[in-house]
Parts: sequence; structure tokens; C-alpha cells
Amino acid sequence: MSALLAGKRIVITGAARGLGQSFARAAADAGARLVLCDILEQPLQETAATLSEQGAEVDAVTIDLADPASIEQAFARIADGGGIDGLVNNAALATGVGGVNMLDYDIELWDRVMRVNVRGTWLVSRAAVPLLPRGGKIVNVASDTALWGAPNLLAYTASKGAVIAMTRSMARELGERGICVNAIAPGLTRVEATEYVPAARHQLYETGRALAGAQQPQDVDGSVLYLLSPLADFVTGQLLPVNGGFIFN
Ligand SMILES: NC(=O)c1ccc[n+]([C@@H]2O[C@H](COP(=O)([O-])OP(=O)(O)OC[C@H]3O[C@@H](n4cnc5c(N)ncnc54)[C@H](O)[C@@H]3O)[C@@H](O)[C@H]2O)c1
Repeated sequence: MSALLAGKRIVITGAARGLGQSFARAAADAGARLVLCDILEQPLQETAATLSEQGAEVDAVTIDLADPASIEQAFARIADGGGIDGLVNNAALATGVGGVNMLDYDIELWDRVMRVNVRGTWLVSRAAVPLLPRGGKIVNVASDTALWGAPNLLAYTASKGAVIAMTRSMARELGERGICVNAIAPGLTRVEATEYVPAARHQLYETGRALAGAQQPQDVDGSVLYLLSPLADFVTGQLLPVNGGFIFN
């Protein structure tokens, strides 16, 4: 059997580290050509160099999801290299955004979370659509915190609820172009960004899962590969929690 994503050109945002870096490695292993985007320029270059040394075809493009002009410039560069086959909207303000209750949450931080996670996801998708063919795929990375009502994380959970809602509307709007749009909702995963999360919250997840224990980035890769692949050609507007059965959709 040929590789699942053989020759496909896939854009992954937030690919410098964490889940996005793991998706990039998995997509490369599945035969994809990669366009990795992030605001963290140095870690992005390092990730791209490592994957390139391992034999992957990789472009690295710096992008700031908070800045519409930066998104347009990044996609102009991406378009110079031709069309794309898939987009993973993974970049988000995902760290340092919790631990404060709704009564004390900072308004500036609320706005920044929304600007990056919600408006940024829309603007990146908008820029990507002209480059996607029929059969193209968009995978939005939401979070299961929006499903179970995680406390002390309100701007983030609201932003991920919006990503789920956008996934459904985008699926209907882009259906006429033959583009599939789906979302995954990972559970709390052990990455650099979640080191700040209190031990009690990690424990809640690790004992509350149907498949008890810690979630690693690699546990999420397969669902992203599937939704990017022709195996998911008739799947759109759906939300797939990938959390070891912590909460069900
Ligand atoms: N780790 C978890 O437990 C978990 C659970 C559910 C969902 N998620 C989601 O998974 C995705 C990846 O999160 P992660 O845990 O790997 O965290 P992370 O912070 O390591 O990854 C987010 C990436 O997005 C980038 N980014 C942030 N702001 C940006 C901007 N303005 N422009 C461009 N890039 C920007 C960061 O530099 C980083 O590389 C996020 O969407 C997050 O909400 C994570």
C-alpha cells in the first residue's frame, strides 16, 4: 500500500513545537510534503531542519495569526510553491491562558485569545481556500475543554467552542468546492505548553479516561492523518474527540 499522504502538500500552523510538531513528523512519515508555519521563528527553523535531515520535503514560513497582513504574506509565499492539499489549523494561544476564574479574567488576554484562536483560524482558512483543490482537507484543532466545560479557562474554552462552530459552517460553505472541514478535540496532552497546568487537572484527566493514563502528542497524530487523507473524503463538519475517552461527543 502506498503511503497515506504520498505527495500531498500539507500546511500545518503552530508546527514549531508540541502537537503541531508531532503532526508534522507523522505527516512526513506518511509521505506528505510539508509547509510548517509558526510565530516562533527559531524553533520553527529547528523543527524544519530536523525533519529535513530525516528526509522530509519541508518549507518553513513565519506567520503571526494575530496579524491579517502576516497571514496574507505567508500564504503568498506558500502559493509561490504551488497548490496545497490540506491545512491543519493547529496554532493557538494555548499556554498561559488559564488558571484564572471568569470574574478575574483579563480583558486584554481575552481579546488576544479570540484574535489568534478564532479570527486567526478563519483568516488562515480563508487564505488557504484558493490553494485547495476538490478533495482538499481542513482539520481544525479544537479542545475537549470546550465539551466538558473546563473551569478557569474561559477565553480558551470559548475560543475552542467557536472553532467547533466554525468547522460546521465552513464545512457547509466549502462543500460546494469539494473541500472537507473537520475538527479534532484533543484531551489534556503532555507537552511543553501544558507544564503550567496544575497537577490536579492532569490527574483528573489521567484517572478519568476510559483509557486511563497520560496522553502524548503521538496519541493524536493518527486522527489528523486520517482526516487529511482520502479515507475521509465523505466526512465533513464533524468533531472527533481524541482524548482516551475522557468525555464523549
Ligand atoms: N496540549 C494540550 O493539552 C491540548 C489539548 C487540546 C487542544 N490543544 C490544542 O492543540 C494545539 C497545539 O497546542 P500545544 O499544546 O501543542 O501548544 P503549543 O503552545 O506548543 O502550540 C501552539 C503553537 O502555536 C503557535 N502560536 C501561538 N500563537 C501564534 C500566533 N499568533 N501565530 C502563529 N503561531 C502561533 C505557538 O508558537 C506554538 O508553536 C492548540 O490549538 C491547542 O489549543 C492542546
